This record gives sequence, C-alpha cells and structure tokens, in this order.
Amino acid sequence: MEALQCPTDLAHCIDLRGSDALTARSRVYRLAHELSPGGSVAFLLDVAPGSFMESLGQQLRHRICWKASALGQDGWLVELRPREDVEPDTLMALLGRDHERLDRLFAELLQEANAGKMSTTAPMLADYALGLRRHVHVENLVITPVLDLPRDVARRDPLSTMLDDHDRILEELHLLLGLFSEGLPEAWEVTPFMAMLSGALAKHEGREEQGLFPVWDMRLKSLQDAERKALLDRAKDVLGGAEDAALA
Ligand SMILES: [Fe+2]
Ligand SMILES: [Fe+2]
Repeated sequence: MEALQCPTDLAHCIDLRGSDALTARSRVYRLAHELSPGGSVAFLLDVAPGSFMESLGQQLRHRICWKASALGQDGWLVELRPREDVEPDTLMALLGRDHERLDRLFAELLQEANAGKMSTTAPMLADYALGLRRHVHVENLVITPVLDLPRDVARRDPLSTMLDDHDRILEELHLLLGLFSEGLPEAWEVTPFMAMLSGALAKHEGREEQGLFPVWDMRLKSLQDAERKALLDRAKDVLGGAEDAALA
C-alpha cells in the first residue's frame, strides 16, 4: 500500500483503542471499503498499525493510502484516503497506477468493440495507444538510461525482457491501429487482435511488477533525493504528454 501525505482536516475520527484485533480489523475494513472519492477517515489504535494496514491494503487491493502518526501514550492516529485522491509519490507507484489506468481503458474499448460500436472504439483506441506509447517511453527512455541494470546475452534478465516485450507490444499496437487507417473496420476484424494484445499486455505488466520494479526500486534507493525527484517529475510530465513529439 502506498504511503500517504494527507491533510488533517478529517471527516471523522473513530476510537478503536481497547477493541480486540478482530473487531478493529473488521471495522476499519468496512470504513475503508466505503470510502468514496474525496473522502477520508481517521481512527485511533493502541498498537502500531504497520502490519495491520499492510494486510488490510492487500485485502482492499491497494485502493487506499494511509498515514500513521504516533501520539505517544495515546496510541496511533491513522488516516485513510482513496488512493486515486493521492498523487503517487514514487516512480513504481506511478507506473503501477498507469498500468491499472491503461488496463481500464483497454477493457472499456474492448467492450465497445465486442458490442460492435466501432465509431466509439476508434477514438478510444487512439487515446489508449497514446497512453501506452507514453508509458513505454517512460520505461525505455526515461528510466532505463538512469537505472541501468546488468543484462545477460540470452536476454532473459528483467530489463531485456521488458525491452523485448515493448517491441512486440508496439508492433501489435501498430498492426491494430493499421486496421483503422482506412475507415472503420468490422468488429470481427479487430477483436482477435485486441484479445491478443490484451493477453500480451497482462503478461508483460505482471513480469514488470514482479520482476523488474522491485529491482528498479532498489536502484532508486541508491540515488540522491533530488535525482529521484527529477526522475519522478519527468515521468509524470511524459505521461502527461510533455514529450509526445519523441514517442515511438
Ligand atoms: Fe512496460
Ligand atoms: Fe509498465
């Protein structure tokens, strides 16, 4: 779960000190589950919340951010907010969230294509393609040169795997876009290519998140704060369109 820098204007604060662990856990789970965008919730615990919140975060599929403040003898104040309300504060969190955003976009456009609505599928695909090319640009040309990692000749290391996956994914994307280049195709012409690309992307994101991101995260820790921040800021700018003229 991501760390949270949240304001202290809390909607409410619930005192769970003295509650047994199971009661506290189910109460916090319900509160977190019901949090809506723009909302926040705070509660008091009498034990350090680290492992409690980490396991809760996994149950909630990392949809919340939390921040704990030690109150001395009064225990701990824990503040929760929906993750979408909080700017990612690390490079890996930024990329992980962008994976989720791109996955959502792709699922929506696939739904439109499956329903035969090609006139809405086309602009959604164009938006998705731009987002994916920006994402690949960040990983290939912003992060890789700074966090260079050893590569093996067989190209089985995490970085080479990522670069090779990107080549294949961009090739499949261009193939798909080509089907829209001379007017709207029929749904049956494009959905097999979309399904293929969707499978390749899911595998790729899994490999990155489990194999490459932890290694990059370690390398990031060896940078100075200013270098780390510059990298994060540039990645955010690229995802926002700042280097679109240079996209693959
Ligand atoms: Fe990637
Ligand atoms: Fe990625």
